[in-house]
Amino acid sequence: MAYTTFVCQRFAIRPLIKNLTLNALPVILGIESSCDETSASVCVDGKILSNVIANQTIHEAYGGVVPELASRVHQQNIVPAVQQALFNAKVSKNDIDAVAFTRGPGLLGSLLVGVSFAKAFALAKGLPLIDINHMQAHILAHFIADHKPTFPFLCLTVSGGHTQIVLVKDYFDMEVVGQTLDDAAGEAMDKTSKILGLPYPGGPLIDKNARKGNPDAYKFPEPQIPGFDFSFSGLKTAILYFIRDKVAADPNFIKDNMADICASVEKRIATILLNKLKAAAHKYNIKDIALAGGVSANTGLREGLLKLGEEKGWNCFIPKFEYCTDNAAMIAIAGYYKYLQGDFTGQNVGPLARMPM
Ligand code: KG4
Ligand code: ZN
Repeated sequence: MAYTTFVCQRFAIRPLIKNLTLNALPVILGIESSCDETSASVCVDGKILSNVIANQTIHEAYGGVVPELASRVHQQNIVPAVQQALFNAKVSKNDIDAVAFTRGPGLLGSLLVGVSFAKAFALAKGLPLIDINHMQAHILAHFIADHKPTFPFLCLTVSGGHTQIVLVKDYFDMEVVGQTLDDAAGEAMDKTSKILGLPYPGGPLIDKNARKGNPDAYKFPEPQIPGFDFSFSGLKTAILYFIRDKVAADPNFIKDNMADICASVEKRIATILLNKLKAAAHKYNIKDIALAGGVSANTGLREGLLKLGEEKGWNCFIPKFEYCTDNAAMIAIAGYYKYLQGDFTGQNVGPLARMPM
């Protein structure tokens, strides 16, 4: 298909796409670069054949992602990541039928690298482009597995930048019914770990330490927010003051009680999330309940959801670890479903730091 077909607005393009012969077994290249993971994946007919994730260690020294450094590292990693994804999938670049990429939300400079690569690749090979919402893709990662949720289902999406309860009516028909009013759950994990002197990203380290601790050792407050919304900034301040006072009385407090602190913080964050999810499931009378996003890798949250699901008779869907944190497989699978719908975008597409569902 000639490149000129794709140089047009999303809505203008739809009639033209009718002429595109859709491949019955489409090969989708997925690209993810919204934050600090550069990732590429190949999906053939809805099956993920490769998922290469290049992590950026440069941010550890700064206690958080430095946007300018992230985009520079994406530039270094993007071509090797795609080459490796093609190699692992045993696919040539001439086999690709469409390029799916994260358009937003995320860090603008980081997104720009993935968007520019996807556009250049599509332009060079005369391929259609598929723009993907990163938050929708976290949820659609559940369609990689054989055991898929049925619509409508509820998804608790918990990442470093977002905390949402989403009513998922169809692949691309999603309604956010609750979200954080301030910090995200992942941010609460990361900020707590910073207070404890642990390196970034702190979530996995809180998880690791929590496994050896007593979750009832310390009681942190549960915010009283109406509806299905969340707030984590008060909890963060409560943790900060608690640690400050304890360390003033005993300088070794953190070192001697690390496991109990982590277990207690993890338990509080998990109960805040699960109590809201329970209320939303009740209101919408939904029994298919999913977890998504980086914090869904958390052991306490995963175990808590399964326990609650057993009590409530829910069908619980928890992603494999490799599909919890940012990855291109979720972009490729979302791209696959958009490809089936003939939903493509044009070469004039740009990244969006904020992108509503
Ligand atoms: O979805 P994600 O990879 O990136 C964003 O889109 O933000 O989520 C990253 C977040 C970070 O805050 C990280 O600390 C947290 O997920 N995280 C965890 C665990 N693994 C990653 N939090 C708690 N326990 C974990 N095992
Ligand atoms: Zn994410």
